[in-house]
Amino acid sequence: MHVGIIMDGNGRWAAKRGLPRPAGHRAGAAVVREIVEEAARSGIRVLTLYAFSSDNWRRPRAEVSAIMRLLRRHLASELPRCLANDVRLNVIGTRSRLDPPLVRAIEHAERATAGCRGLLLRLAVDYSARRAIAAAAQVAGPQDAFDQRLAAVTHALPGCGDLDLLIRTGGERRLSDFLLWESAYAELLFTATYWPDFSAREFCAALADFRGRDRRFGGIEARSA
Ligand code: FPP
Repeated sequence: MHVGIIMDGNGRWAAKRGLPRPAGHRAGAAVVREIVEEAARSGIRVLTLYAFSSDNWRRPRAEVSAIMRLLRRHLASELPRCLANDVRLNVIGTRSRLDPPLVRAIEHAERATAGCRGLLLRLAVDYSARRAIAAAAQVAGPQDAFDQRLAAVTHALPGCGDLDLLIRTGGERRLSDFLLWESAYAELLFTATYWPDFSAREFCAALADFRGRDRRFGGIEARSA
């Protein structure tokens, strides 16, 4: 099973408490740890988290720097935990605009966890589904290999497959350029909970909701994911 999460609501969570927006992102990073551990326990094969979209570069420079710093620190600090839980890391998106220290941290984390066979944790950083689809379409090759081409242009490991469940926190109901190709038959779940208030408990409830859905993939009989 492949679950994707659009972790929205950090800024509003902070504003509600009179805190600067980066404080919301820090609180959000703490929740990432809790959800990753729950995903690993639940036997989910792939978890893709939308950490920074290509459109997020439009935010104030200080906020962008705070998110990038958080990502770099998180990659380093969570590495032992990933290894202990057999979690493999993969960062998808464009790397050319990221700071070299962050790119080095990404490459190091990916190399260090390459042998892990439990949960595959993918962080989408400077990610745009449209850009990825357009880039993959430029690469020559047979149409049935499109998934592989899409993976190659975003540094993704091959074989992650389509998204089964897409969760968006924070109350908005949109996809915001996240995994558009892979979401063709994804079940969508929107919750008003701000990301820093999201919990393992609500994540489990989302998984239970998903299991109760009738997936037909355009046919007439339900197929399990
Ligand atoms: C959306 O909330 C959140 C982001 C753009 C950043 C997500 C980053 C993290 C959760 C922390 C770092 C991630 C990892 C994996 C350590 P928003 O700022 O759009 O919130 P708002 O809609 O309330 O303004």
